[in-house]
Amino acid sequence: PGDRIAYADGPLGAYAEMRLLPARHAVKLPPAVDFETAAALLLKGLTVQFLLERTCRPQPDESILWWAAAGGVGLLACQWARAAGIRLIGVVGSDAKATQARAAGAFATIVWPREDVVARVRELTAGAMLRVVYDSVGRDSFTTSLDCLAPFGLLVSFGNASGPVTGVDLGILARKGSLYLTRPTLATHLASRERLDAGAAALFQRVREGALQVHIGQRWPLREAAAAHRALAARQTVGASLLLP
Ligand SMILES: NC(=O)c1ccc[n+]([C@@H]2O[C@H](COP(=O)([O-])OP(=O)(O)OC[C@H]3O[C@@H](n4cnc5c(N)ncnc54)[C@H](OP(=O)(O)O)[C@@H]3O)[C@@H](O)[C@H]2O)c1
Repeated sequence: PGDRIAYADGPLGAYAEMRLLPARHAVKLPPAVDFETAAALLLKGLTVQFLLERTCRPQPDESILWWAAAGGVGLLACQWARAAGIRLIGVVGSDAKATQARAAGAFATIVWPREDVVARVRELTAGAMLRVVYDSVGRDSFTTSLDCLAPFGLLVSFGNASGPVTGVDLGILARKGSLYLTRPTLATHLASRERLDAGAAALFQRVREGALQVHIGQRWPLREAAAAHRALAARQTVGASLLLP
């Protein structure tokens, strides 16, 4: 009783002033992490952690592609990559978002759809293309992401911002160079208490050290949740968005 807690995954029901939460999802917050930081950090930060440390481990000096690099997950990924020496090429929707992503640590940015993503990746990698692409846009970016990979490359499709990827002819992976494809979710990675605690501890440690700063781009009162959804769908948000009771 009295502990300050947060959670990253759990049953639906966050749009409420109060809720019941199964204790196995709860993470105790250190005193230095306030509620707003926790709300913006936990799900998105743990997502970046499993993507960059478990799904695939990009190496220092390796180039990777990251869609929506100025989003809530994206700005944390830029910082994480910079700290690890990884060259994150961020795809973003505007010049303003490109500036934000580079300030957070992106090695380069591509403004999409204005720029040709595949051509820019070819240029930035001197023709080598990539071993791994992280794609949270989904339907609209799927083929482009595959085209950014070198033979035997891995597409990590981890979100559906433009709609889900469906009806894939698996032969496309063969034709484009014996590619690999995965569709991971945080829920699997947090299924054990040990992994949840270890991930949260690593995340809070990075925040304490100042290696990871949480960017809250916009806040709405909970009763205006619809406005938040409209802004998100219109690609108008930067960093994390908070709904406050
Ligand atoms: N697999 C998992 O376990 C897991 C966990 C957490 C989050 N996610 C996913 O990771 C992604 C990022 O989450 P987030 O909360 O940080 O969101 P976000 O990146 O802040 O917002 C989504 C961004 O996607 C881009 N986008 C491109 N096409 C879009 C379209 N047609 N409609 C709307 N947005 C579009 C926009 O950025 P630009 O304007 O720069 O293109 C937009 O700002 C989401 O897709 C989310 O579902 C997955």
